[in-house]
Amino acid sequence: MKRKKTKLKVKNILILIIVIVLIIKGCSLIFNKDETKKVNKKDTTTYSKESLNKMNELNIKNKVDTKKYSKTLDTAIYSDEFNIDFVTYYENIKYVDNDNFIIYINNLAKDGLAINEIDEILSSYSSYSNFEIGNAKRYSAFKNKNPELKKQDIVTRVNLNLDKPYYTDTKRIEKQDDIYALVNKYNYVDMSYVPKNLVPLFNNSNIKMVKVAADAYEEFVKAAKEDGITFIGTTAYRDAGWQKSLYDSYVSKDGKAKADTYSARPGYSEHQLGYSVDLNDPNYSEKRVSRDDYEWIKKNAYKYGFIIRYPENSENITGYQEEDWHIRYVGKDVAKEIHDKKITFDEYYDLYIKEH
Ligand code: DAL
Ligand code: ZN
Repeated sequence: MKRKKTKLKVKNILILIIVIVLIIKGCSLIFNKDETKKVNKKDTTTYSKESLNKMNELNIKNKVDTKKYSKTLDTAIYSDEFNIDFVTYYENIKYVDNDNFIIYINNLAKDGLAINEIDEILSSYSSYSNFEIGNAKRYSAFKNKNPELKKQDIVTRVNLNLDKPYYTDTKRIEKQDDIYALVNKYNYVDMSYVPKNLVPLFNNSNIKMVKVAADAYEEFVKAAKEDGITFIGTTAYRDAGWQKSLYDSYVSKDGKAKADTYSARPGYSEHQLGYSVDLNDPNYSEKRVSRDDYEWIKKNAYKYGFIIRYPENSENITGYQEEDWHIRYVGKDVAKEIHDKKITFDEYYDLYIKEH
């Protein structure tokens, strides 16, 4: 009786194992099917029977040189975006591994670009994470004017509008209270915008920042003090009216062109966000900070969530001459990344914050 029971148990276990093995095999067949297809497609130099049939279905077999394999065309014929008018484009444009590749070709072809131009643009730029098809033609034009720039920088700078004169095609910032809001010569806040949560720095009622930045600023100042450096904030939050009177006074002193190199027009100043502060070392004979102070800021500000917003040698990205005294709060993580990558906030914003 006992032996019979054991036999039955073993039989059941065996059946269960066989069923599990079959299920696993079945699943792997289903899931690997696509993979196999992909690998074959990648490595192939000829159209599969399936692809040739598809071309027949699409009525393009006579238009295409089926002996000359094009991975782009082989991809396009399976795409919902396939457009019969652009078959020659698909045949002749080098394949780029990008989900939107066919859409990009259609877009540029509709725009009247020649095959070789589209080929050049897509193979050069479309693999960058911040590539924007709407800016594709501008990338080429900007590269022609700035051949020394790396392709990634071309994409980023054009996205930032740096191929256009300052203060053209300006855009109102949607989330004005955002800790990562990018204010520059192309992006402005409302003249009436006042951040919520402004608090005085070290209880000095004239100098205010958004609370989170004010708290970080106090830590920053204490840390500097421990290293023997004294900083006092001279200006932090400025409303648009204050910025206007500052800017106007600089224009009457230096003229508009010069004033624009160091002062923002009202609505375009980061000070209006309440996340920035200008530093002064009272032990330094001049108005701002010494070069030694600046070295300390460069090495340490990020630890408290601050970045140098207008660093040296970045005028053609930030739009302003170097300001070793102006720091901006962005939080510790982003400040560290900007510090480590040695890039400007403008670039960081386009590369990692803006959705493309
Ligand atoms: N000086 C900086 C650019 C401002 O005016 O906001
Ligand atoms: Zn400033």
